[in-house]
Amino acid sequence: MRSPAENMRIFADRRQKLAGMIPGSALVITAPAETVRNGSVHHNFRQDSSLYYLTGYEEPGTILVYRPGMTPETVMFVRKKDLERETWDGFRFGPEEAQKQFRMDKALPVEEFSKEIISLLKGVDKLYYRFYKNPEMDTLMQEALLSLKASQGRTGFGLLPVYDADELMGELRVIKTEAEISNLRRACDLTADAHIETMKYIKPGMSEREIHGFFIYQIMKRGAAREGYGGIFAGGANACTLHYVFNDEPLKDKELLLVDAAGEFNYITSDITRTYPINGKFTDAQAQVYQGVLKIQKTIIESVKPGLPFQELHDMGTNMLTDLMLELGLLSGRKDDILKSNQHKKYYPHGIGHFLGMDVHDSGLYFNKKTGESRKIEAGMVFTIEPGLYIPANDSSAAAEYRGVGVRIEDNIFVTTNGYEVLTSNCLKEIPDLERTVGYNYNKLAP
Ligand code: GLY
Ligand code: MN
Ligand code: MN
Repeated sequence: MRSPAENMRIFADRRQKLAGMIPGSALVITAPAETVRNGSVHHNFRQDSSLYYLTGYEEPGTILVYRPGMTPETVMFVRKKDLERETWDGFRFGPEEAQKQFRMDKALPVEEFSKEIISLLKGVDKLYYRFYKNPEMDTLMQEALLSLKASQGRTGFGLLPVYDADELMGELRVIKTEAEISNLRRACDLTADAHIETMKYIKPGMSEREIHGFFIYQIMKRGAAREGYGGIFAGGANACTLHYVFNDEPLKDKELLLVDAAGEFNYITSDITRTYPINGKFTDAQAQVYQGVLKIQKTIIESVKPGLPFQELHDMGTNMLTDLMLELGLLSGRKDDILKSNQHKKYYPHGIGHFLGMDVHDSGLYFNKKTGESRKIEAGMVFTIEPGLYIPANDSSAAAEYRGVGVRIEDNIFVTTNGYEVLTSNCLKEIPDLERTVGYNYNKLAP
C-alpha cells in the first residue's frame, strides 16, 4: 500500500475494542515469514489477516506490540527505509512515516525488536502471542521471555504466561462490522460476476488451467487484489478431490465442471462453488444429483437464524445428504446404521460450512471449550453453506451413470438480527439458468 487508507480510524477502533478484552495484557502479532521461491525470488506476500486487521500495514517484517492502557500503547516494528532495496522491491514507509500515517504511538526499526520487547513486557500480566507462524519470531520471543524472567532476579516469579492470540483475534473477527460487510459485499458481487462470466466462457476441449486464468482475470478486472484461496477448477471426477489443486486437465463433453473460487477485496474474501455441465446440458443422472444437492442447500440456508446451534446445520446436511445417497442407490440399509458407521462419509466427507471473512476458513470458535456445546449462530456472523456429493469414478457400488459425478454448491450467508442474507445470491444456481448461461459466448442462446 503506497498511501494508507483514509480510514485509519477503522483500525484504531478495532484496537480499542480489543483493549476491553485484554486489560493488563500485551498482544504481539507478527507478519508471516517471507518464503523464498528460488534465489532472490519470493512467493507473493500477503499480510497476516490479524495484523492487517489491527494496523492496516501491509509490509513484510512487521510486528505490532499492543499494550492497552499503557504508554506507549501501540508500538509497531517495521522495515527501515532503504532506497536501494526500494529500487528492487518497491516502496517502504519506514518507522517515521509508519508512526505518523498509521497512528502508532511509536514505530521502530524491526532490528530493534529484541532490545525493546523486554521493557515493553515489564509489568504486563499476560502475553497474547501466536507460536508457529514465524519460526524466527518464535525464537526472539522465547529469548525475550527468558530474559524477562532472568531480569526479575530472585523473586521466584515464573515466565510471563502466554495465551494463544489466534483464539482472541478469532473472537474479535467472528462478528463482522458494517465496514467489513460492505467489503464482503464487494468481494461476493465481483466473485459472483466472475463465476457467471466463466460459465459463459467454457466449452468442451478447453483446459481447467485456461478457465482458472480466465476466472483470475475476471476477479482482478473487478478490483480483487488476488484470489482468496487457490481456486479449484475440477472437470468430471476431479471434483471428487475436495481441494483439487492441479487444474490442468481438458474439459470433457458430457461431464460437469466444479468451480470453487473467489476474489479477495480489501482483505476480505468470498467463497463460492458452482457446478454445471461443460456442454451446457445436464444428463438425467447429473441433474438428479445436482437437484438433490441444491434442494438440500436451500433448505439449510432457509433455516439459518440467530440462536440456532451451528452444529444443527451440520446435522441437517448429513441427514439430508444421506437420504439422497439412499435415494440414488449409492448406499443401502438403515439410515441410523449408516450414520453411526460413517458410511455416508464416502460420498460427503466434509462439513456443511465454515466462518468466512479475511481468511476463507476464518477464525472464531465453533464450540464452547468447557462444555463442548456447539456455538449458537449470532447476528453479524458470516459463514458458508456448501453441501456436496462426490461419487468416485471407480465406485463399483454406484450405478454407471453416477460414477465420476461430483457436485458442490456453496453460498455465503450473513446472519442478521432476524434471519439471514445470502450475499452470493447473484450467482446463478438453478438448472435452467445454468443451462441457458453455460457456453453463452458461443451459442448466444440466452435471452
Ligand atoms: N474453498 C474452500 C472451501 O470451500 O472450504
Ligand atoms: Mn468453503
Ligand atoms: Mn469453497
